[in-house]
Order: sequence, then C-alpha cells, then structure tokens
Amino acid sequence: MGSGIAQVAAAAGHPVYLFDAREGAAEQGRERIAAAFDTLAGKGRMSAEAARAAATRIEPIQDLPAARDAGLAVEAIVEDLAAKRALFAELEGLLADDAIFASNTSSLSITALAAPLNRPERVAGLHFFNPAPVMKLVEVVSGLATDPAVAATLHATARAWGKVAVHAKSTPGFIVNRVARPYYAEALRVLAESAADVATLDAVLREGCGFPMGPFELMDLIGHDVNFAVTASVFEAHFQDKRYTPSLIQHELVQAGRLGRKSGRGFYDYTPGAARPQPVDEPARQGVHAVTVVGDLGVAAGLIARLEAAGIEVARKSGSAEHGAGWLEIGSARLMLSDGRTATRRAVEEGVPNLVLFDLCLDYAATPRLAVAAADSCGAGAYRAVVGTLQAAGLAVNRIDDVAGLLGLRTVAMLANEAADAVLAGIGSAADIDSAMRFGTNYPKGPLAWADELGAAYLARVLANLATHYFDTRYRTSPLLQRKALTGAAFHA
Ligand SMILES: NC(=O)c1ccc[n+]([C@@H]2O[C@H](COP(=O)([O-])OP(=O)(O)OC[C@H]3O[C@@H](n4cnc5c(N)ncnc54)[C@H](O)[C@@H]3O)[C@@H](O)[C@H]2O)c1
Repeated sequence: MGSGIAQVAAAAGHPVYLFDAREGAAEQGRERIAAAFDTLAGKGRMSAEAARAAATRIEPIQDLPAARDAGLAVEAIVEDLAAKRALFAELEGLLADDAIFASNTSSLSITALAAPLNRPERVAGLHFFNPAPVMKLVEVVSGLATDPAVAATLHATARAWGKVAVHAKSTPGFIVNRVARPYYAEALRVLAESAADVATLDAVLREGCGFPMGPFELMDLIGHDVNFAVTASVFEAHFQDKRYTPSLIQHELVQAGRLGRKSGRGFYDYTPGAARPQPVDEPARQGVHAVTVVGDLGVAAGLIARLEAAGIEVARKSGSAEHGAGWLEIGSARLMLSDGRTATRRAVEEGVPNLVLFDLCLDYAATPRLAVAAADSCGAGAYRAVVGTLQAAGLAVNRIDDVAGLLGLRTVAMLANEAADAVLAGIGSAADIDSAMRFGTNYPKGPLAWADELGAAYLARVLANLATHYFDTRYRTSPLLQRKALTGAAFHA
C-alpha cells in the first residue's frame, strides 16, 4: 500500500520520501513505482516526460531524519498499534510543529493511535483502498482530538491527488469496512441455510443486482483470514453487537487454511485446471401465452415490457394502490417481489398456495438473471409455468430455497440499514457514505440512494419481517430508517 500511495502523491507533483524498515524495500518500491509510470506512459495515460519527472520525485531514504522537512507523513506499516504509535512519536520529534501525521490503517482507532502523542490534533486517518493508484476513494478519518483544519487539509490534498475524498469519524471499520459487512454476512447466512450453491448466489448478486463481484468470489480475493479478521474486529469493537456476528462457515475456511485465491482454494478451487462451477439455472420450461398484472409492480415494472416484447399477452387488473404491492398472475401461480417474508409464510398468510417470490434486481428491464423462491405449498406445474414464462422473457432463472428476503433484497436492505445507522452516528454524511460505497467498493448505487429509490417504508417492512422471522436483533431497523419510513422523506433531499 505504501508504494501505491507514494505513486499517487508523486504523480500529483509532490516530492516524496520513501522509508521502509526492511533494508532495500524503499529502493524496490521506487523501482516498482517508476515501472508503473513507464507502463502508464506506454498506454498513453501520461507523457514519457511526465513519467520520468514523477519517478524522480520519489526519493528512497535510509533513515527517518532525512525526511525532517516533510509537511505530511503517511504511514502504511504493519497493522499494529504499538508500532504505529512508536513511528509517529519518532516523527513528531523530527518534523515541524505544523506537520500532519496520517495513518492508512484499516482497522485501528485513530483516537487510540493519537492519544499518547504530544500533538494528537495533528493526527488523522488517510485510508486508501487497494490498489491505491486505481481505487478512487480515500476516507479522511478524524479521531476525537483531530483538528478539523487537519481533516480539511487532508481532504483537499486527496482531492488534488485525483481522489474522491470523504470525511469519516474514527469508529470501527470507518465507513466502507463497516457499511459493507452485510454484503458478506447476508450471503454467508443464506449459504448457511443451504439455500443455493456459491456460484449461483454470486451470480445473483453480480448479474441480478449489479455488484462488481459476488460475495464469495470477493471474499476469496480479499482472503478469508483478512475478511474474517475485519468482521471479527468490527464485531468485538462494537461489544459483540449481533449485527456483525462472524460466520462459522468462514471460520471453518480460515481454520482449514482455505484462504481464497492466495492459498489456491477458498469457496472456489484455484488450482490450475480446476473447473469453475457455474450458476445452477433452472432447466428450460414451457411458459404461458398470457399473464395478468394485478396492481402496481413498482420497481419491478420493467418486467412487463420484457414479457410483452417476448410476445406474451399482458392484461392489467387494478389491485392495491400501494406502490410495488402488485403481482403477476401466471397460470395458477402468483409471482411477486419479496417483502422479507418467506414465500411459505406469505402463501399461508395471504391464502395463495401457488406463490412464487422474486428477488430484488438493479434493473428489471435489463437484468439477465432473476432469483425466485417458491412456497412449500406451490404446485410443481404452477412453478414450472412461472419459470418458463420468465425464461421466454429472456431471463435465466435461479431457484433459491425459500429463505426470507431471498438474497439481493435482504443484502440491499441491510446495506441501507447499516448506512442509515452510520449517518445517525455521525460517522459520515449520507452523500459521503454513498460516495464511499460507490468508489471504495464499486457498488452500482449508494445504499442510501438505493433506499430512496425503493422507499424507506418498504425497506423498513423488509427488515421488520426479517427480524420477526429470525428473532434476531441483527435485523433491527435503524431509527433513522424508521423515521424516513414514517415521513416519506428521502436520505438525499
Ligand atoms: N492491503 C490492503 O488492502 C490495505 C488496504 C487499506 C489499508 N491498508 C493498511 O495499510 C497498512 C499496510 O498494509 P500492507 O498490506 O501494505 O502491508 P505490508 O505488510 O504489505 O507492508 C507493510 C510494510 O511496512 C514495513 N514496515 C513494517 N514495520 C515498519 C516500521 N516500523 N517502520 C517502517 N516500515 C515498516 C514492512 O517492511 C512492509 O514493507 C496497514 O495499516 C493496513 O491496514 C492495507
């Protein structure tokens, strides 16, 4: 990470001293950065002259006093509180009084890091994402003592370096590593209920909801040791709040040494020649020629045009005026968007045995894939007609066992819930939290913008249904989401 950050600063015109405790590492870092500039020049992304000039701005140094005229020190050393404190204490004795001390830590408290120093107000987090030259986001993290002017200078500096900067408060996981927890946790829980295999669940979130990677392939990339440690540290740091409970499945992988890509095996097998499992799509079925839309399909209305484009006759009947509470009648089955209850429960409560629920998608008019869950009471023929009709409209259909809230819906609801709680706790503004998730993790939408689109009232209902179903405080609704649900106000005015 250190050389990536140095590369960003040098590219933006700053002279950079590069120091590493391991002999030769700083010089290697400089060579790696120079090679990266050459590659960028080769691709026409910077001129050859600019690449040469940027490389000469990096100066490897053998000892810290050589950096005494630096105005900003960014540390990206080992993730150890005592080591980072010792380094900052030494730098404090060398650099000018108005120098800024920034830490790239992912998990340590900025407040704790700064506490023993003489100038804790000059300390802040400057949290880059890997690889630093590529990833747009930088979280500027303020501890309890951080001078707002220091945070403002770091914010402006990160922006001048071409980054998207957001302000965050020093709390466990800052913005991104906290708000992202449900992306892994909900998928792991659905897997723990044996609802589907990992390749299918990955495909549902990637192709159905537009996330750049499925949660299981992403955990394999991050490394299960790292991902588990982050979850465990957020869980412990919140005094074992059940919302962040780590997964037994992931713990097993860590214990087995199946750490993901780096060890050759995680959820997937990366040994050369190993076959990549594919999502399990429903086999081709016979659909119906005519369907009826009852009421308003809300966000899923894009499905209607797809059915019509496939030559299926679509009749319309009025139903509940409630936005999104409508359904499709397909043969003897009812197909509707999940509201966080299982299909089996809803079939009983609404007196509709042949009930099939579908999952949340990013864009129903374009999605290549849709996950569905059928009630235990749903007849096989009725279910097959639903599948065949969706297939005729160009959709790959994935059956997930009847878990509450399927996968995309419960994931997005929990991401929005976590983001709402982060706003409430003053960890970041709604705008900064959405930017952080879009540019730090490449989510297709900020979770709060997504909540505005889906409606807080709907998401609050989904979460309440999940909480009832699991009898688990993990699904408790953020007080801020509850307020938005009651007033109809948006997170983004
Ligand atoms: N790897 C990531 O994806 C990532 C992302 C964001 C933030 N971070 C944070 O960046 C920091 C570094 O992570 P990394 O993955 O680059 O680690 P790394 O182990 O690859 O690199 C750390 C470097 O620091 C050097 N070092 C260790 N102790 C030192 C000391 N006392 N003084 C000087 N140099 C020292 C090591 O020799 C090594 O070259 C950590 O705080 C981590 O939380 C990492």
